Amino acid sequence: MKMLGLLLTLLFAPFNVLTLPLSFEFPADQLLLQPASSPFIETETAAAPSSAVKLVYQFQDRVALENLASRSNGHLVLTASNQPIVYAMNPNTRNAKPISVFRVPGVTGLTGVVETAPDVFAVVAGNWSTETFRATPGSFSVWSVDFNTPQPTGKIIASIPEASALNGLTTLEGSRDIILGADSAVGIIRRLNVTSGEHNVAIESPLFAPTKLVPLGVNGLCTFDGQLYFLNSAQGSYGRVPLKADGSAAGEVQILARINLPTIYDDFDMDWAGTAWVATHANMLTQITVEGKQRNTTGTGSDTAMIQPTSAQFGRGSKEAENTIYMTTAGNNTVGGQVLAINLCLT
Ligand SMILES: *[C@@H]1O[C@H](CO)[C@@H](O)[C@H](O)[C@H]1NC(C)=O
Ligand SMILES: *[C@@H]1O[C@H](CO)[C@@H](O)[C@H](O)[C@H]1NC(C)=O
Ligand SMILES: *[C@@H]1O[C@H](CO)[C@@H](O)[C@H](O)[C@H]1NC(C)=O
Ligand SMILES: *[C@@H]1O[C@H](CO)[C@@H](O)[C@H](O)[C@H]1NC(C)=O
Repeated sequence: MKMLGLLLTLLFAPFNVLTLPLSFEFPADQLLLQPASSPFIETETAAAPSSAVKLVYQFQDRVALENLASRSNGHLVLTASNQPIVYAMNPNTRNAKPISVFRVPGVTGLTGVVETAPDVFAVVAGNWSTETFRATPGSFSVWSVDFNTPQPTGKIIASIPEASALNGLTTLEGSRDIILGADSAVGIIRRLNVTSGEHNVAIESPLFAPTKLVPLGVNGLCTFDGQLYFLNSAQGSYGRVPLKADGSAAGEVQILARINLPTIYDDFDMDWAGTAWVATHANMLTQITVEGKQRNTTGTGSDTAMIQPTSAQFGRGSKEAENTIYMTTAGNNTVGGQVLAINLCLT
């Protein structure tokens, strides 16, 4: 979320991120949440050749892009945490520009988005404060936006008043109507039937929880090979939990990789091999293998700098798109959110 970037700017205001003292210590209660040993393997951080990272679009206004999904025709569906507008964009045209396709009434922003049926997308709506970095409990709902009609249409799936800060969404493998959503401020995975609107708690774990320092815990979600993979922004962790067919846990939550503040994982996509491609604050795309091996990629020139990446998704619709990661960024206090295309053949 944009909030994450702003929050860190405040938290670490006396330091430049690059000059953060090596001896910087987290409050004791933070450390309690971090298991003593982690399978975290250091590798490298590489600036991608400038040709690999392309700016597809940048908002002139302070639109904090938050999430995206790829349509089968190669177009993108975009959300912003500070606007209640679902945008669609064809990234394959010279002057690609997002167009507003649906406005959710009565909320200030949108977060997670996932395809639930061919060209039908579920979108999380709710109220977020960019001053307190917290969401308004009771403000959350999930909507569906259908692109199968000439004019996309939107309708509510369910109000989820018990949600604290509903964020990343994913589908459940093998299920037609169940999606899972990360409730970031309490550390719960919620389950929603998109056909009936029925919803309840699917999984709870301290490993999904936020921390005192960062109020958003579990964030991006993906299901792959019978497991739910997740990022916890506050705890700086990437992990997984085996799933039952109904979306509840079939075993223990396992942590696969970690990073330390002020670097923050946000949302991600997975490739066929189970490698996660993570939008990482303040300026990186992080690759994490199932063994927990990590690699960072950053943009180079000023037009390809990644400014508070919030989400990453593979393209669809062509071989080239399938080798492209599209990223949304929130931008910062002076520049608007970006849509970036990263050509993985060149990184
Ligand atoms: C990725 O970048 C972060 C922030 O600079 C750093 O802490 C981490 O060690 C890097 N990871 C790797 C594998 O280089
Ligand atoms: C969310 O924000 C909108 C627009 O400011 C406001 O009308 C609505 O009452 C808010 N909802 C809640 C539950 O606070
Ligand atoms: C979801 O709701 C629909 C409509 O009520 C129902 O037919 C379906 O069985 C439900 N799915 C699950 C997995 O409970
Ligand atoms: C926002 O990002 C731009 C481009 O990287 C940078 O020049 C500017 O200093 C940043 N502003 C803030 C307030 O961080």
